[in-house]
Amino acid sequence: MEESRQQSEKRNAPIGVFDSGVGGLTVVREIMRQIPEEPIVYFGDTARVPYGSKSRATIIRYSEQIIRFLKTQQVKAIVIACNTASAYALDEVRRQLDIPIIGVVRPGAKVAAQVTKNGRIGVIGTEGTIHSQLYTKVIREEKPEYQVIGKACPLFVPLVEEQWLKDQVTEEVARRYLKELQDSGIDTLILGCTHYPLLRSTVGKVMGENVTLVNPAYETALELKALLKKENLSFAGEEPEEKYRFFVSDDPTKFQEFADRILPCQVRQTKQIRIDEY
Ligand code: DGL
Repeated sequence: MEESRQQSEKRNAPIGVFDSGVGGLTVVREIMRQIPEEPIVYFGDTARVPYGSKSRATIIRYSEQIIRFLKTQQVKAIVIACNTASAYALDEVRRQLDIPIIGVVRPGAKVAAQVTKNGRIGVIGTEGTIHSQLYTKVIREEKPEYQVIGKACPLFVPLVEEQWLKDQVTEEVARRYLKELQDSGIDTLILGCTHYPLLRSTVGKVMGENVTLVNPAYETALELKALLKKENLSFAGEEPEEKYRFFVSDDPTKFQEFADRILPCQVRQTKQIRIDEY
């Protein structure tokens, strides 16, 4: 049966991805790798970053505004790339939406519950993500007997943004933060913040090869791919001229530099918008 025009317009619409700033580009990068044909509209809330130390109510309000903006871009589905916003706002905003939306916490938590052998899982993230305990809840839904140990590592975000990925200072900070997780005998560690996949080698070095690192950004891209297929929303058109569009709420210069460093393609243009008008 031939697809209606409306349905094909819908499936060829972009995916909306948002984060508090640049970190969500680690999720965009995985989406570009797993489903390279999909167009993406990205919003980074660079004027209001960080989200990790803000309250649940504020994060919900910010997320609602961003979703209203993404809807003006006719997105077919939304990915909350920010761990803190996924932890605090996903359930709330999902109730108000008529398109599919996923966060990064569930995909990461589910895989961690599958890969651990000893049932002891560590989670590192922002204060908000750890405080929300959502990783723990999701893992315990699958495996109530598992032990989950959370640790907030707030200094990691500025270190990544400073590009000190393999620096001695970063390694020392990692040793201090991760000490109690090492002592607790975890065999799996979730990199529960957008920036942390960029510290993978430093964290891996500190934790040792017996600890499996789980990257929620990667798992989310896989889940998104499966979701689009299930909902009959996978892209099937001609490649659009402006396949990737980037928006931020503050000056785009730094964002653009970061994006060009970590994405597999060059970002042509980043537009600044007034997010508080949405
Ligand atoms: N994107 C945030 C997260 O994944 C980290 C940066 C912030 O605190 O806003 O939780």
